[in-house]
Amino acid sequence: MKTVTEIRPIKWDPRRKRLILLDQTLLPGEEVFREYQDPAEVAAAIRDLVVRGAPAIGCAAAFGVVLAALGCAGEQPLHSEACIRGAMAEFRATRPTAVNLFWAIRRMEGLLAACPDPDKIPMILETEAIKIYEEDLAACRSIGDHGAGLVPEGARVLTHCNAGGLATAGYGTALGVIRSAHRQGKIRMVWVDETRPVFQGARLTAWELLREAIPATLITDSTAGSLIASGKVDFIVVGADRIASNGDVANKIGTYPLSVLADRHGVPFVVAAPLSTFDPGIASGEEIPLETRDPGEVTGFKGVTWAPEGMPALNVAFDVTPASLVSAIATEKGILKPPYPAAIASLLR
Ligand code: MRU
Repeated sequence: MKTVTEIRPIKWDPRRKRLILLDQTLLPGEEVFREYQDPAEVAAAIRDLVVRGAPAIGCAAAFGVVLAALGCAGEQPLHSEACIRGAMAEFRATRPTAVNLFWAIRRMEGLLAACPDPDKIPMILETEAIKIYEEDLAACRSIGDHGAGLVPEGARVLTHCNAGGLATAGYGTALGVIRSAHRQGKIRMVWVDETRPVFQGARLTAWELLREAIPATLITDSTAGSLIASGKVDFIVVGADRIASNGDVANKIGTYPLSVLADRHGVPFVVAAPLSTFDPGIASGEEIPLETRDPGEVTGFKGVTWAPEGMPALNVAFDVTPASLVSAIATEKGILKPPYPAAIASLLR
């Protein structure tokens, strides 16, 4: 049997001190890895979706901070620290919704503040970024294995956007659940929402599932409703960009309508996410900042424009699913069930 190498969208070259990112804007057509030494270019890569998906954004920003520390080294200690903090601010300004970004930078910031020897800062930050990356990889495998326990035998599973190996250090969250369930022989079919506007489902999830020969069928986002109503979906699993203390979940636009459909038709609606996606600092989804992106992503794609010139468009990239519509949350520490406020508080304690 042909073995397929696992997807690694983010790599760190420890000898040359370079970040290497798989350019996800070119998938599935081309597999191009780009090298980064300049933190400003890493910030642009996050903004432009070269690297995307909440945990992957956190990992990339952590390595971006390492690049900043290496570039700032040699300056007077106070200048050096200000220089690294400047880069951190630039990363924080890239994408507002995925809390993993802010979580990863906070971890780096804590070490920067605590380091007594400025010469050691780059090395300490590099060690931490590698740790963040390795922890994410381990968390995804564990999420997958825990989540697979919820998937029924012979399941037709629907997923939205890409919460796969590409969106994480590897293995994925929602796709991690699907991968683990597939290994257990439980997957009959994965329905892949194409996920407008920039097709993370059609381009990225489809690419991941196809290369691993997991049975999958692409559908337009608007097909999901009638498919669920006709009893052809047994289980829905999605990722998350931020989970509030009460269990409200921000994820790719189009997730909320799926949760309503799931509730209407009695289909389990499961969210898969690592602890780094929980935001204990906010009480509910109302406080989650939802990114608005370039309207050009709605009026066209990759140089093709389908809307008439001058047509206004709204491009809110995420929506919020209320906790009441979430059947379970699969984490690396196990499965959370309602009531979420207590389950989340005890998880994060
Ligand atoms: O805009 P994107 O592609 O970064 O959005 C990604 C998602 O919404 C994912 O579902 C989420 O980040 C979870 S990834 C494990």
